[in-house]
Amino acid sequence: PRFDTVIVNGLVVTAADSAYYNIGIKDGKIEALAREFSSADLEGCEIIDAEGAYVMPGGIDGHVHLCQDLKTGPNKLGGRCSDNFETGSRSAAAGGTTTMVNFASQDRLDEADRSLIGVVQRYAARAQSTGSYIDYAFHVIITRNDPDVLQSELPVLVKEWGITSCKLFMTYDTMRLTDRQLLDVMVAARKNSVTTLIHAENGDAIEWLTEQLEARDMIAPYYHALSRPPLIEAEASNRAIALAQLVQNPILFVHIGSPMAAQNVREAQSRGLPIYAETCPQYFNLTWQDLKRFHSPTCFENSKMICSPPPPAEKNDHEALQRYLANGTFTIWSSDHCPFRYDDPDGKPAGVLEHAGSMQGESGDGHNPAAPCTSVYHEVPKEDLSRLLARKMGHFKHVPNGIPGVETRLPLLFSQGLLTGLISPSRFVELTSTNPAKLYGMYPQKGCLMPGSDADLVIWHPQATFKPFALSNSHLHHNVDYTPYEGQTLSNWPRYTMVRGKLIWSNGKIVGQLSHGNFVKRGPNSLHQRPQPFGTDLRNVATWL
Ligand code: URP
Ligand code: ZN
Ligand code: ZN
Ligand code: ZN
Repeated sequence: PRFDTVIVNGLVVTAADSAYYNIGIKDGKIEALAREFSSADLEGCEIIDAEGAYVMPGGIDGHVHLCQDLKTGPNKLGGRCSDNFETGSRSAAAGGTTTMVNFASQDRLDEADRSLIGVVQRYAARAQSTGSYIDYAFHVIITRNDPDVLQSELPVLVKEWGITSCKLFMTYDTMRLTDRQLLDVMVAARKNSVTTLIHAENGDAIEWLTEQLEARDMIAPYYHALSRPPLIEAEASNRAIALAQLVQNPILFVHIGSPMAAQNVREAQSRGLPIYAETCPQYFNLTWQDLKRFHSPTCFENSKMICSPPPPAEKNDHEALQRYLANGTFTIWSSDHCPFRYDDPDGKPAGVLEHAGSMQGESGDGHNPAAPCTSVYHEVPKEDLSRLLARKMGHFKHVPNGIPGVETRLPLLFSQGLLTGLISPSRFVELTSTNPAKLYGMYPQKGCLMPGSDADLVIWHPQATFKPFALSNSHLHHNVDYTPYEGQTLSNWPRYTMVRGKLIWSNGKIVGQLSHGNFVKRGPNSLHQRPQPFGTDLRNVATWL
């Protein structure tokens, strides 16, 4: 047969356009596209009938935390990451994602972690120990500015490992780099064409605000948001743009959560600077109100929405962020999947002190704390409660930051962005697949449907016959005991997810193999046009640096 598989009757969408055509797949790659293949061409191949539904390049999630260390947690807050490469990739596949980029984090406090290559080897072994249903890659988190390591190891990471991106933090005591350290690492990144991701929050100001809140007993989960008002992200993003311009290094802001920071990005972009921005579903669905729900003295539920940056204060902010999604300011749409369980004592507890009544200046959500909890999620056992209290987990600053969402990333944007007309189908593909592929050096192997590209596809249900449903955590395939989006109405869901020609998810079932997912060796950022984006004027230090 000419092909292994042919997809027929699909409305095929790329970042550029949409049209009805057939896709012929051979040996895991797109072999040919045609208005219609002849019956001779179709002979002997497996036929997948899309029944008029959208067919798109598979989702690429550029921001996933799996297997991050217990000793430190994804943000050194002691949480246990509940998804590994098995459960994380299973959940990703069920939500239409075919490639994920995970974090391999250096630990500043551990001298053994000085070597970035050592760090990457450790995480690669974790992926190999279970396998993965989908393809995966790593960003390296750099928390030290060791000149010898940067000089000797970055070129090896790029050339031998195909690891061409790093994440740098401006907050978290044990992760953050000072401005001069940021400059050191950015210069090293620029020399090696390593795409630089920035977590932009002003760590000093957060610590200061946290002390102010503590002095007033305002330590319940809700106050996590008050310790990080939008100016925190606005200031840090502004500063990072200036530092990036100073050393002429393109940067991508991860998880932008406030219109103020998005506006900084917009202004930098309109000055022609290669400044990129990621945003995530939590910033379009949650508000500070979601940090306030509580039910009973042993209910810890209210810490479940704690993430950094926090969700925006109110619904108006969602609308403002939507405008930056529609007008092109945001480059990519990722999940920031950061999984912690409620029923794990090393997971996501807290909220004890909130029930003791420290909601100063704010009324609760109207729930009577004395009434029994009606939450479907959990009631924390008494033994754990005393253990957690002993560890002072009631304070927001001890709650591991981050929320799950690798599976709901595409369906939420499909329902809330594509079907509402906020963004076009092509912009949907650009945000969820093509731009992450280009930014992270995987294009055109991934992120598009050109002949020769990997046959990574997501096929949706035919819209006319799909019955909208209320999302429940029981639908999901992650190893987390809640979803932040419980009860949300979704108007479509991926019907098929295909990775390199093999179906991994089909009609509500995982049908793939854990051995199928490959590590992806990546190249340089192809979104960014290299020639002198910042100008050649001598006032720009990079002309002589
Ligand atoms: O709160 C968040 N976003 N946790 C995940 C770690 C990070 O900073 O991305
Ligand atoms: Zn971050
Ligand atoms: Zn409850
Ligand atoms: Zn993250």
